[in-house]
Amino acid sequence: MTGSAKLGRISLLAGASLLLGVVACKDMGAGGKPGPATDANPWLTQGWDGNQRGAWYQPTQGSRLLPWAWAKALERAEDQQAFFENGNLARFRFITVPNLKNPQLPVGFAIDQQPDDQLSYTKLRWFPGQKNQEPWLGLNCAACHTANLEFDGKSLVVDGGPSLVDFQGFIEGVDAALNATYGNADKFDRFAKKVLGGQDSDANRATLTGELQKLIGWETENARLNKTDLRYGYGRLDAFGHIFNKVSQLAVYGLPAGSRPATANPSDAPVSYPFLWNIYRESQLQWNGIVEVRPKGGKPKRITFPNGKILDYSALGRNAGEVVGVFGDVVIKPNPEMGGFDSSIRADQLDELEGLLRQLKPPPWPGAINRARADQGKPLYEQHCAGCHSEKNLNGGIYDVTMVPLAAGDPGGNNTDPWMACNAVSYESASGRLNGRPRNYFSGPPTQETEALANMLTTTVVGSLVAKWQQVAEQALDLALGIEKLPKTTKAATAVSPAERKKGRLDSCFKSNSPYFKYKARTLEGIWATAPYLHDGSVPTLYDLLLPPEKRPTCFYVGTRRYNVSKVGYQTGAESGAGCPTPAGGKPDPAAPGNAFRFDVALDGNRNVGHNYKVGQLSEDQRLALLEYLKTL
Ligand code: HEC
Ligand code: HEC
Repeated sequence: MTGSAKLGRISLLAGASLLLGVVACKDMGAGGKPGPATDANPWLTQGWDGNQRGAWYQPTQGSRLLPWAWAKALERAEDQQAFFENGNLARFRFITVPNLKNPQLPVGFAIDQQPDDQLSYTKLRWFPGQKNQEPWLGLNCAACHTANLEFDGKSLVVDGGPSLVDFQGFIEGVDAALNATYGNADKFDRFAKKVLGGQDSDANRATLTGELQKLIGWETENARLNKTDLRYGYGRLDAFGHIFNKVSQLAVYGLPAGSRPATANPSDAPVSYPFLWNIYRESQLQWNGIVEVRPKGGKPKRITFPNGKILDYSALGRNAGEVVGVFGDVVIKPNPEMGGFDSSIRADQLDELEGLLRQLKPPPWPGAINRARADQGKPLYEQHCAGCHSEKNLNGGIYDVTMVPLAAGDPGGNNTDPWMACNAVSYESASGRLNGRPRNYFSGPPTQETEALANMLTTTVVGSLVAKWQQVAEQALDLALGIEKLPKTTKAATAVSPAERKKGRLDSCFKSNSPYFKYKARTLEGIWATAPYLHDGSVPTLYDLLLPPEKRPTCFYVGTRRYNVSKVGYQTGAESGAGCPTPAGGKPDPAAPGNAFRFDVALDGNRNVGHNYKVGQLSEDQRLALLEYLKTL
């Protein structure tokens, strides 16, 4: 195919998704004009109208957790209440907003309906004659990237802000409910009646049992791979851990008995959900910068068409990776070549969602600002913070993000919790059906029998894009990362127990010089709306982050939406602070209702150390001035 023919097909598709956008504007709900927030209109002015919000909150991205018919019939493990019901889902901090198109589900829940003939573990059938387009329930971006806070008595929705969703608790809840349905005859009876309806028969019940067992088998294996004792609590998820383990699970799915199973890599480095305004302007994304939008000195991984439409294949790749992790179904084959890997990933929708994000603005501080004090804070910001956190070398609409290498033991360096960055570069697995496939799908070194998961992820993503959209994938060849396996240090090589192996791995990370053993200094626009802070969510408020590390709370509670206007973050509750006792008798704290998770900074993955960029030297007056200024960003 000639270059221009290639481009022609791409622009055709780009045009098609532009059209989709127009349709979306017509029929999506979630109205509300921009303006002062009220109960009926809790949104801040962020550049989106009701149609754009409607197009963000509930469309499918190809995420398939369980069949919608099952979801509607599923009871909680502990009683007969519906699991997928807004009140129950609110326990995990999923939210609802006015005018949702599908008000029986919270923000971020989407129904995915597509032909499933080419799919694998999400192709289930439980009655004869069942069609190939069974609707499935899954999540989309908005579940994790929409904040809801109670500011001065008002409920505010921040689009693209971090949610408080407890993903770990949610998945465990779903798995427990599925298991209880399978294991309890009364529960199964009620479930089967609802799911089968007019098709209820002994034979169909037997088939349904088998299909339920299959899904439980999948979930059980997934839980084995992710298993960790560390609790995430509200507002955190080890996204890379879950995505990596999903890739290794897909890579070996259906291999004959006796084949090497996927390697379990504990998802024990949960991170705070990042905010999404401005992301289209940054050269690197993710806490460790592993998604390169514009490599240093290189060209952005996107194409701009004459009509102004942008094909952002870096974003497509990143979002496709996210769908893999968040209940996407991908069929990894040994030699599919131009056919790619069939999958449930909805590339058109991902492009659409990304387009919306390009129009999203940071939320303005909704309270009063002490201007004189903020003016005092500005020079402090310029002096102590701007060097890392401001936009630099803005070029073609993208600026260079400052990435700061981790430096253990250097009190002035980046010595925050290293686990997210270390896991991402050091986790490996048996590569199953990816074994031997070029790392870049078409080219590059062959995938080894045991391979870095970051590489297996990019191979899977490019393979999935090939199946959707051959031309994009050809452009997307430079998505691959080329993560080198870390050299084993003596500590790593001689480790015996899991704890020692973990220490050895960290040792290798620190000695590796990996370009991704770093954390990103994001811009701080709208930072007031994104507590808790640091990549691991270990610092509850901006005020606390400006304290010397040893003065930050060592323990605090999360889960409330009640906002702390003076400290800038969520209320941590009366019990937080030194020692952090469990709230008396487990009673809710009236100042911070919902604060049900105790965050202990003493655990790996939870450390609140580091980021001590001279803030310790600030006087209390200067600290408050800087805090006031941060509200204005
Ligand atoms: C299940 C929760 C979840 C869903 C669904 C989800 N994300 Fe995320 N997202 C996260 C987490 C957690 C991170 C941080 C991962 C990391 O860097 O370690 C993240 C990171 C990102 C980043 C990087 C931000 C930055 O500043 O570097 C972008 C961009 C992003 N997500 C966009 C999206 C889009 C677009 C979608 C939907 C197509 C989506 N996410 C769906 C949880 C989610
Ligand atoms: C040397 C570079 C550097 C300097 C100077 C610096 N930061 Fe940071 N900042 C970072 C990095 C890197 C991170 C991410 C670290 C992490 O999450 O573990 C970060 C994280 C943050 C976060 C958390 C962001 C989030 O989404 O949770 C805030 C807030 C912040 N910095 C504010 C400041 C302020 C205010 C100053 C000035 C007093 C400052 N920083 C100075 C590099 C820097």
